[in-house]
Amino acid sequence: MTQDELKRKVAEAALDYAKGVAVLGIGTGSTVNYLIDCLADIKQQIDGAVSSSEASTERLKKLGIPVLDLNDVGTLEVYLDGADEINPRKQLIKGGGAALTREKIIAAASRKFVCIADQSKYVEVLGRFPLPVEVIPMARSYVARQLVKLGGQPVWREGCVTDNGGQILDVHNLSILDPIAMEKEINNIAGVISCGIFAMRPADLVLLGTEQGVKRLD
Ligand code: A5P
Repeated sequence: MTQDELKRKVAEAALDYAKGVAVLGIGTGSTVNYLIDCLADIKQQIDGAVSSSEASTERLKKLGIPVLDLNDVGTLEVYLDGADEINPRKQLIKGGGAALTREKIIAAASRKFVCIADQSKYVEVLGRFPLPVEVIPMARSYVARQLVKLGGQPVWREGCVTDNGGQILDVHNLSILDPIAMEKEINNIAGVISCGIFAMRPADLVLLGTEQGVKRLD
């Protein structure tokens, strides 16, 4: 099976967690795009969705699924989103699509975070995927220098402006042995909007698309 087929299979499996939920949290990325397309079949059962990006918002709206403001909804029952890396503790790296800040907000505001991904995303230690860090534009060079002190090699994702007007540094060569400590440390650098480590609030359930079928990591 191709990576895209695995993504589609896992998105179909995730539909079970969307059924009967009035308002869904919806992430960003190619795996989530498959999921959004599947939601079309059950849209009569859904009042709406809180979206983590302008891209997902547009896709949801095209299918006639109302997009709601998180401030009007309160706590969400379920948040469905992809990831760039997943470790055995269901801690993640996210932000390959530059939507990490809104994704982190929705994850924090949700009771259950179901992460959907193909098997290539599963790793023992986070950090092979360059860690996205969203920054206030004027702080970019300062933050980059602090990230070097932490052992990383930050690279500015030139031309990328996030939905919040931020910029992205992709940090290479980090071996993230203590994801919670690293998440806190990067969050504390002045000018950081958010960092792509999702460890303080990991996924509750991971659905992993593999050649042998969809595996659950509870
Ligand atoms: C978006 O900013 C990311 O966090 C995505 O969730 C992540 O990049 C996964 O994307 P794919 O589903 O396209 O692999």
